[in-house]
Amino acid sequence: MLFAIFLLLITIVALLLLFCGRSRRVNEPPLEKGLVPWLGHALEFGKDAAKFLTRMKNKHGDIFTVRVAGQYITVLLDPNSYDDVLYDTVSLDFRRHRGVLMKNIFSLVLPSHNPDKERAWMEQHFQGVGLDKLQLSVDSHLRGLLMADQKGCGTAEWREVGLFDLSYGLLFRAGYLTMFTRDDNTDAVYKQFRNFDKLLPELARSTLKGKDKKSATSSQESLWQLLTPTWLEGGRNTSCWQESYQLYLGEAGVDAETQRRALLMHLWTTQCNAGPAAFWLLGLLLRHPEAMQAVLAEVRGVMQNHSLHHSAHERLVTHNTPVFDSVLRETLRLTAAAFISREVVVDGKRLNVSGGQEYCLRKGDRVFLFPFLSPQMDPEIHHEPESFKYKRFLNDDMSEKQTFYKGGSSLKYYNMPWGAGRNSCVGKQFATSTVKLFVFMVLSHLELEMCEPTDPLPRVNPQRYGFGMLQPIGDLQVRYRFKRN
Ligand code: HEM
Repeated sequence: MLFAIFLLLITIVALLLLFCGRSRRVNEPPLEKGLVPWLGHALEFGKDAAKFLTRMKNKHGDIFTVRVAGQYITVLLDPNSYDDVLYDTVSLDFRRHRGVLMKNIFSLVLPSHNPDKERAWMEQHFQGVGLDKLQLSVDSHLRGLLMADQKGCGTAEWREVGLFDLSYGLLFRAGYLTMFTRDDNTDAVYKQFRNFDKLLPELARSTLKGKDKKSATSSQESLWQLLTPTWLEGGRNTSCWQESYQLYLGEAGVDAETQRRALLMHLWTTQCNAGPAAFWLLGLLLRHPEAMQAVLAEVRGVMQNHSLHHSAHERLVTHNTPVFDSVLRETLRLTAAAFISREVVVDGKRLNVSGGQEYCLRKGDRVFLFPFLSPQMDPEIHHEPESFKYKRFLNDDMSEKQTFYKGGSSLKYYNMPWGAGRNSCVGKQFATSTVKLFVFMVLSHLELEMCEPTDPLPRVNPQRYGFGMLQPIGDLQVRYRFKRN
């Protein structure tokens, strides 16, 4: 018995030594292993990554390595050095970590996944001529959804709703109807999608347990079923984005089951950000009356300068709205918070940080950029970064302000909601015009106000740092009614 306990202790000590054994080498970034073997800073990181990384930045500066669940992650927060990461395709790889996330979140393994080919395929749909077609479709679906809502209530009647539910719900439905074939199950898809999306950060970290894990699995399975196109079940055949995507996957040799899983991943990629972005934009306008009045003046200008048979999309693309554009950029600066992640695949990858310091990275480690902390919330770059300043991205002559400084030099990256470099967001134009379209329709058709005018905006859910657009904890109660015009 004593011998067994002794053996166990020896094993534990050996394991501790094995896993705690890494120490900082000359030329490596400051190392923070955390007190807990293997786990390191995983709990603090998962609970509120922005808070944790701000603490590390204050302690170590713009570069440091942290241990998180057995993985060593070098976090780089100097926008002047981001190109060293964004454009290095030899020493750094983005596929492996993406593969892990696909497996954890969507239970998806794409056998012969070629991200470059997939990106080129996505660009065909979400940029150029393809984009215009999608946008007109979103426009008509949004109009249809608003008119259906209007029929359900008298003109003078106020409705009380959560602004997040309203924005996410309408944009998701319009996006789904645009890109997927089935129009008979939108509400069911939305319900399951919101549950899945709520649990997604924990799915990504593989920390879901018990009831929540069952709930995520159940929503995932329902969605696989609900997203099955009608033509596979003998229904009508259409030519839409979904059909084209499945053809693309079929040609790449992906089987039917894996195709369903890939569809869910794409549903999430294309629909999870626009709704939350529209929520923050409208919420910030409601909290800042001067900004609201300036945007409303532009909305009236767009309405007056076009005949009624022009779609909202056509009106917006042919009319300049500098204040509206600055408000959108400022909203995204405050609420877009994706990680940009790479894996080091060559020993000794070098990173040069401002001030001339050079650091070496080890093979197998990860590199994270977190543009939310810098440039977006960096007080050296943006004056009072926590505040919403609707003219932040406007010059006096109403042109777009593009000159911002850090350490005395002008910056290439001063706002990065869309990422940058070769993996930057494919849907940037689609998302920008969709959010603008939605806000334009809401402001031109609805009278919208907060139920409690002095309420602050809800707090950010800190678990969502790293997963694109932030989401609130709870909602902002608003009321609306249709304008008489
Ligand atoms: C407000 C809305 C959105 C924001 C803030 C946003 C943000 C981002 C960011 C930061 C990345 C880069 C991630 C990285 O470097 O790893 C990204 C990638 C991507 N986004 Fe978006 N996105 C939005 C909407 C959309 C929409 C509507 C689509 C639909 C087409 C889309 C499609 C993609 C795709 C396919 C990628 C991967 C690109 C690649 O790896 O080559 N996004 N997005």
